[in-house]
Amino acid sequence: VHQVGITTPQQGHLCFASLDLVAVRLEDLRRLFVQWTKSAARLMDAGAPPTGRADSGETVGFPPSSLTIGFGIGPELFRAGRTESTVLTAQAPRPLVELPSFRGDQLEPSRTGGDLCIQACADDPQVAFHAIRNLASIARGTATIRWLQGGFRSPPAGEGGIRRNLLGFRDGTNNLDPANEHQMSANVWVGDEDEPAWMRGGTYMVVRRIRMRTEHWDSVSLEEQERTFGRRKVSGAPFGGTTESDPVDPARLPPDCHIIQANPRTPGSESERILRRSYSFADGFDARFGELDAGLFFTCFQRDPRRQFIPIQTRLAEHDHLREYTFHTGSAIFAIPPGVREGEYIGQTLLEAV
Ligand code: HEM
Repeated sequence: VHQVGITTPQQGHLCFASLDLVAVRLEDLRRLFVQWTKSAARLMDAGAPPTGRADSGETVGFPPSSLTIGFGIGPELFRAGRTESTVLTAQAPRPLVELPSFRGDQLEPSRTGGDLCIQACADDPQVAFHAIRNLASIARGTATIRWLQGGFRSPPAGEGGIRRNLLGFRDGTNNLDPANEHQMSANVWVGDEDEPAWMRGGTYMVVRRIRMRTEHWDSVSLEEQERTFGRRKVSGAPFGGTTESDPVDPARLPPDCHIIQANPRTPGSESERILRRSYSFADGFDARFGELDAGLFFTCFQRDPRRQFIPIQTRLAEHDHLREYTFHTGSAIFAIPPGVREGEYIGQTLLEAV
């Protein structure tokens, strides 16, 4: 019904590729999705090389390592004149808007946008990398990689399964619960009454590469760090509480802290809820700033970015105290088509509709 890597328990490693379509014929796009679907199924099942093509070989004999491979389609692909077909433009989902520019954005073109995406997640980084490498090789002549992002997330540690981001805070506390079908159908999956019909069972993904000003962050007090989020650093408890799961009382939190700006808990803000599934990144050293090139590859899934990601990020860009310590260097949005049955291919509902 749905693609993998969305509600799947989060694996330890990510390899994410954004690609540009170089072909203009819809037949080439269809062939690409057919080949990608077959190869992805095989890679996820057994980690085995796709038949009929040489595999690069760096995972021969490895287990699949919980590999999930998901595919998405960016808004640029639907633009008039982008492909030979004007029918494709007519099938563009309205929620798949080009993201507006948000205050403070420092987006780099080489980390932004894309016609297609592949998200490979696995517990072994080499298995995730291998999947992207071989799927990109299958695409040669039809699509080329525009940008690539790796990420990692430590397994839950100790009692209570603690997970922390690179600012040292527990992350994921008040996320939607991927196992809660009601929450997923209300907030994540495109429903039977939603348009276009080919997206039903799918979702929309927004990714943001967010750099952390680690030097700056490390030089401020614990008190300043905690008021940035409205939670305690070690325990994850909200201000006024003692444990991570304690309820948030907005009256006790600084109004500009991250968790209040991300979820103001006012009437109506309930409809903005998103499923977060982000990975940390550490991409070496940025000599221009004398800082680590590290941060969060923020990833979220939702039913309609126009009423979910965009209003949240608009508020965060204007008022979130965390702005002081972070800046966005990459961004993209993708329609994630529904899952497939045996013998079908990802994107089939779209390509059959045109
Ligand atoms: C580097 C950037 C970011 C960091 C380090 C970060 C970190 C955190 C932390 C530590 C929490 C509290 C624990 C939790 O509930 O998971 C949190 C909550 C949250 N964040 Fe972020 N975040 C970042 C960017 C974003 C962005 C870009 C968005 C959305 C546009 C976002 C949306 C949320 C939401 C919705 C919550 C839950 C708030 C609640 O309901 O209490 N975050 N984040």
